[in-house]
Amino acid sequence: RDDKVIAPALLDWYDRHARVLPWRVPPGGPPADPYRVWLSEVMLQQTTVAAVKAYFQRFTELWPTVQDLAAAPDAQVMAEWAGLGYYARARNLLACARQVAAEGGFPTTRTGLRALPGIGPYTSAAIAAIAHDAPETVVDGNVERVVARLFAVNTPLPRAKPGLTALAETLTPQERPGDYAQAMMDLGATICTPRNPACAICPLVDPCDARAEGIAAELPRKAPK
Ligand code: ADE
Repeated sequence: RDDKVIAPALLDWYDRHARVLPWRVPPGGPPADPYRVWLSEVMLQQTTVAAVKAYFQRFTELWPTVQDLAAAPDAQVMAEWAGLGYYARARNLLACARQVAAEGGFPTTRTGLRALPGIGPYTSAAIAAIAHDAPETVVDGNVERVVARLFAVNTPLPRAKPGLTALAETLTPQERPGDYAQAMMDLGATICTPRNPACAICPLVDPCDARAEGIAAELPRKAPK
């Protein structure tokens, strides 16, 4: 198998099937606003895309820029966050907005982003890739599943995590890494699903090792609790 076919095939699929989301710029479009990418990714941690949509729209109406959010009263932000859960995230959100506003804008590198409150490996990679088109590899649960299947990784989670991240890194293209990151997440959410993956319509069916071995639906394996 030639791994180099994977990113182009996925980007071609994304050009045709990208989900339309309020924080997303269409495939091949201008760079996304780091503020909107950051806000959406923080909201999407532990909350579904469907639930986040209305909150994202409300927040960006009230506070269109990070400077606006930084100037908002704590109590109003906490009240608007109500329902999303994990209130530590809202506290970190405000602390981060205030630090970014004081520094005159979001850092542009993954390392710079990683130093901000509430921004970990996932969020820093997502902002660097999606807002700055840096060739960073974004790994969430969807991406772990896609990669486990592409490479037929039988090692159970969570032990498989470092290896899956390393394999994911080998696939990230230099061209359109931001679209590629979002395409991986869309594929995991809509086609390469945990149960009954839709291999018949998957753009990566040809290079998928798990599909060839007939074990796609069984991966990733999970260590017994
Ligand atoms: N889940 C979390 N972030 C996402 C994104 N940027 N696109 C699609 N699904 C996501």
